[in-house]
Amino acid sequence: MKTGVRMATSLHAPDTTDLCAELAAQRARTLALVSHLDEATLQSVVDPLMSPLVWDLGHIAAYEDLWLVHRHGDLPLLRDDLMGVYDAFETPRAVRGDIAILGPDDARDYLAAVRARTLSVIDSHGVDPVLHELVLRHEMQHTETMRQTMTLGGLLPEGEPSLRPVTDADGAFTAIPAGVLPMGAGPDRFSYDNERPRHDVPVGPFTIARSPVTNATWLSFSEGGGYERREWWSSEGWAWKEEYDISRPAEWDQDGPRRAHDEPVQHVSWFEADAFARAHGARLPTEAEWERAATWNDGTSIADVGQVWEWTTSPFTGYPGFVAHPYREYSEVFFGDAYRVLRGGSWAADKRVATATFRNWDLPRRRQIFAGVRLVRDVEA
Ligand code: AVJ
Ligand code: FE
Repeated sequence: MKTGVRMATSLHAPDTTDLCAELAAQRARTLALVSHLDEATLQSVVDPLMSPLVWDLGHIAAYEDLWLVHRHGDLPLLRDDLMGVYDAFETPRAVRGDIAILGPDDARDYLAAVRARTLSVIDSHGVDPVLHELVLRHEMQHTETMRQTMTLGGLLPEGEPSLRPVTDADGAFTAIPAGVLPMGAGPDRFSYDNERPRHDVPVGPFTIARSPVTNATWLSFSEGGGYERREWWSSEGWAWKEEYDISRPAEWDQDGPRRAHDEPVQHVSWFEADAFARAHGARLPTEAEWERAATWNDGTSIADVGQVWEWTTSPFTGYPGFVAHPYREYSEVFFGDAYRVLRGGSWAADKRVATATFRNWDLPRRRQIFAGVRLVRDVEA
């Protein structure tokens, strides 16, 4: 979070009253998400891949203080001494359980104290059309990360995960004709640096599943030797599967799915998604295909978008003309061939964040995210 640059923007600042209401509403949801958990649970490392939940709370506060109070309002940081431990790069997830961070009550106090400063800076300096939206969405994204942690620890509140049966469990596909996709976000509304600039991408014809793959279909795959047939797997995927002895999606037990069979499968890695597709004479979509399908015909071609993140074949890279904003560590340091892009959104993602141009990313072996599969097939041009 070191390079702070202001971007010339043509965006209009949102209505201050609306923005303050959104900030307050999200804060209430963040606090409610963990209100049933005791102090020890909030501070525990439930999985080496994830932060203690209380770290996310302190990090949300530190991020808001940095961008909305210090950078936007030119005030000194409230807790300069905490910026290192709550910086995602200086203090990676693996060590967050071993360092001195605020306890649950202090983290909640820190959130409240920063919020009071944020509101007073809004009074004196107004609202920045980019930074306030960035910080609001940052908190939304961290509640999804916290839900991943809570899933791994069996800590989700009543009623979650809130998945629904898919619309089209029969596996119907829709044809999308060849065309040119204006890919990425336009200049008229908030977007992340990695969604910009909008640029034309020719996309060939293809067919795409109306709904994501269900637990039922995944069960046929695993019972039909899906995790044993070498020819369906990439070499990297096979090596990963063998090393970790993977034989089913992460949330299943040995008897199969623990959730409804007509709900989308979730907690599958890119490697599994790729093998599943090959077993079905299909493949995963490219990012451009996914975005074309999601925006073509007013988005009516595909259903159930926003239930589970959908793996694509695309590595996470910058669009032509990419400019980092507001700091390189938001997206740019992840560019390359290590990460794969996921599209769409999950039951745990706020609709404000998960738009048709939003790009999520993770490593192909990861399964803690709420990720599933939507298949694509080639058609004759
Ligand atoms: C877009 C979900 C990959 O969690 O690393 C949170 C979002 N960025 N804090 C992440 C984010 C900074 C990001 N993802
Ligand atoms: Fe963050």
